[in-house]
Amino acid sequence: MKVLIIGGGGREHAIAWKISQSKGVQSIFCIPGNGGISEIADCVDINLQDLDGLVKFAKREHIDLVVVGPENPLAIGIVDYFEEHDIPIFGPRKKGAQIEASKIFAKELMDKYDVPTGSFRIFSDFKDANRYVNEIGAPYVIKADGLCAGKGAYVIKNNDVGKEVLKNVMVNKIHGEAGERVIVEQFLSGIEASYIVFTDGESILPMLASQDHKPLLDNDKGPNTGGMGAYTPIPFIDDGMEDEIKTGIMKRTINAMKNEGADYKGVLYGGLMLMDDKKPYVIEFNARLGDPETQPLLFKMENDIVPIFQSCIEGTLNESEAIQWKDGVSVCVVLASKGYPEKAEKGMVINGLDDLKGDKDVMVFHAGTKKVGNNFYTAGGRVLGITAIGQTYRDAMRKVYDAVSCIRFDGMQYRKDIGAKAISFH
Ligand code: AMP
Ligand code: GLY
Repeated sequence: MKVLIIGGGGREHAIAWKISQSKGVQSIFCIPGNGGISEIADCVDINLQDLDGLVKFAKREHIDLVVVGPENPLAIGIVDYFEEHDIPIFGPRKKGAQIEASKIFAKELMDKYDVPTGSFRIFSDFKDANRYVNEIGAPYVIKADGLCAGKGAYVIKNNDVGKEVLKNVMVNKIHGEAGERVIVEQFLSGIEASYIVFTDGESILPMLASQDHKPLLDNDKGPNTGGMGAYTPIPFIDDGMEDEIKTGIMKRTINAMKNEGADYKGVLYGGLMLMDDKKPYVIEFNARLGDPETQPLLFKMENDIVPIFQSCIEGTLNESEAIQWKDGVSVCVVLASKGYPEKAEKGMVINGLDDLKGDKDVMVFHAGTKKVGNNFYTAGGRVLGITAIGQTYRDAMRKVYDAVSCIRFDGMQYRKDIGAKAISFH
């Protein structure tokens, strides 16, 4: 079997690494891939907007399965296009991907089908939005409707800042078209969790819950990023709450999508706030696997992942057994470039990677890296996801930070508290 992976971040390295262990897979291609992926797959450079070019490549190489990592290709309809050409592809169609590509679509869907989420108002006029935030006062959250690479949500604690943000998004259009309409949303306080399920449009196959760390600096300070680290499992969800998440949020949303004429297949990612009253609320939905969450999750997963992708496509997920997981805690710490998330410096040589080879409890997933000769260089904002498994939270944190201490590149920045929230919760 030949598999094509779309994307080139840490998530896609984790997917490629997991697929490379599947018995029936002979070769893996990745567009565009990265330095780490190039060691286990053929990396090919085709513009991800060029759906025709992608289909031609897949036909020429007789690809049996396509797995899409990032949201942008899903939002422009890569799945619809490959399906029209009879190439099996994992992910939701364009209509389904709206659940991530339009925050307004997602909020209206949740409202209509009673999926718990913060109250909200939609605005397309700056003056109306401004008047409304003056009325309610901080705290509240402003969100651009469209895709902004994780940078379109602003938690507002001070109304002057809120008005400035509204002006930047709606008048100065710093996010372009994505900010033509905005949501002003109720501020929710509690513990954040990522709940990711596979689905064939009817059944769900849940992964373990995990926790991302979006702010750049320790103790959740600094600007939001794509995610600076994640771990799984998390201690904040008991069985009752998990049942509520499965039925009252994930299944209900997939049924709602079906009702709206979108047969939703692929991954549904619930970004949740576990509120102080122990109730789970949805902050956002994503139409794909999380990054970095996928790295600790797939490092801990025992199953062959390829049959899961296939059952989602074929509509036979109800026949799948529950996912089996290795014992213990899996933690991933992201090493980022100087200047990230504003403007990342690139081209620094990465040292120390060889020191981590051969340790079965440690895995280095590459994100923004490039291989030239025998050396790896930084080539993006998030560079590496150092991932480790330990028996306890403390053990996993010790292992992962021991591994981090082996790696060096100029300007390297990372958080030192990935996993600490679980330890202080116990
Ligand atoms: P999003 O892009 O929607 O995932 O939002 C980015 C981050 O903003 C989330 O991970 C939360 O930390 C925060 N956030 C978003 N919406 C809310 C909300 N309604 N209440 C509190 N924090 C939020
Ligand atoms: N880790 C957050 C995301 O994948 O959107």
